[in-house]
Amino acid sequence: MTAEPKILITGLEKRYASSRNGEQVAVTGVDLTIGAGEFVCLVGPSGCGKTTLIQLMAGFEQPSRGRPTIDGRAVTQPDPDHIMIFQDYGLFPWKTVLDNVLFGLEARGVAPGHARTRALETLELVGLRAAAAKHPHELSGGMKQRVAIARALAVKPSVLFMDEPFAALDTFTRLRLQDELLGLWQAQRSTVVFVTHDLDEAIALGQRVVLMAAGPGHIQRIIPIDLPYPRERTSDEFARYRRELFAEFHLVHQWAANPGGDVEGRGGAGI
Ligand SMILES: Nc1ncnc2c1ncn2[C@@H]1O[C@H](COP(=O)(O)OP(=O)(O)OP(=O)(O)O)[C@@H](O)[C@H]1O
Ligand SMILES: [Mg+2]
Repeated sequence: MTAEPKILITGLEKRYASSRNGEQVAVTGVDLTIGAGEFVCLVGPSGCGKTTLIQLMAGFEQPSRGRPTIDGRAVTQPDPDHIMIFQDYGLFPWKTVLDNVLFGLEARGVAPGHARTRALETLELVGLRAAAAKHPHELSGGMKQRVAIARALAVKPSVLFMDEPFAALDTFTRLRLQDELLGLWQAQRSTVVFVTHDLDEAIALGQRVVLMAAGPGHIQRIIPIDLPYPRERTSDEFARYRRELFAEFHLVHQWAANPGGDVEGRGGAGI
């Protein structure tokens, strides 16, 4: 992590009103500092609060306690400098690829000529310059996701929030987009918060992996991944991190199944 904190979260809690049992605590007691330019992955089982946490950071949800800050300012609403990429791409079907990418730039008041140059440059970066005049329905899932990434990166956001952006893609497309995303991150130095279910994806991408657990949602452990980029997914070091994360993940599941029980090896887990 760099010395300068970008996102600061202290004692964060989110409760949702629930029709059946009053209130439900989605996440609680979350403390997390993310450095400027850092790439952080959030992983954890379904329902442990990953989406809730990233939406609180991005200003799409309001906390019950402990409002996050970005650059020292309280997050109260979505900010055009902090872009969120959703799993369903969020493209406008009636607009061409180029117009989809232009949308964010024009919304920020970038002059039309400059916006067009910037949009085409960004499409070039994600390998879709030739598809600029197509509409989303003419593209594959991987291409649509690249348009969504291009649209986000075109505005050079200082923070990029990504909630399982590659979950619907096949392995080959996913691996390619992971590498592309890393290349773009290294070129632009945005701060990236990336939610995934996939432990390998988290190890391939994150400088730190934040492992979350349910009951209610909290941070179980933060694991720094001390490997140079690009990461060799078949290396022994990669396998060592995979073993460590899987072991920790196993503990999370044991804990979820038997919350009050004495789970062997929990000692150093930091629950
Ligand atoms: N709008 C909402 N209203 C009520 N409860 C909610 C709402 N959004 C999330 N929850 C609850 O908060 C908890 C955390 O949900 P969240 O979507 O953050 O989990 P997640 O880790 O992203 O799961 P997944 O991996 O399945 O996407 C869940 O128990 C969920 O039912
Ligand atoms: Mg989610």
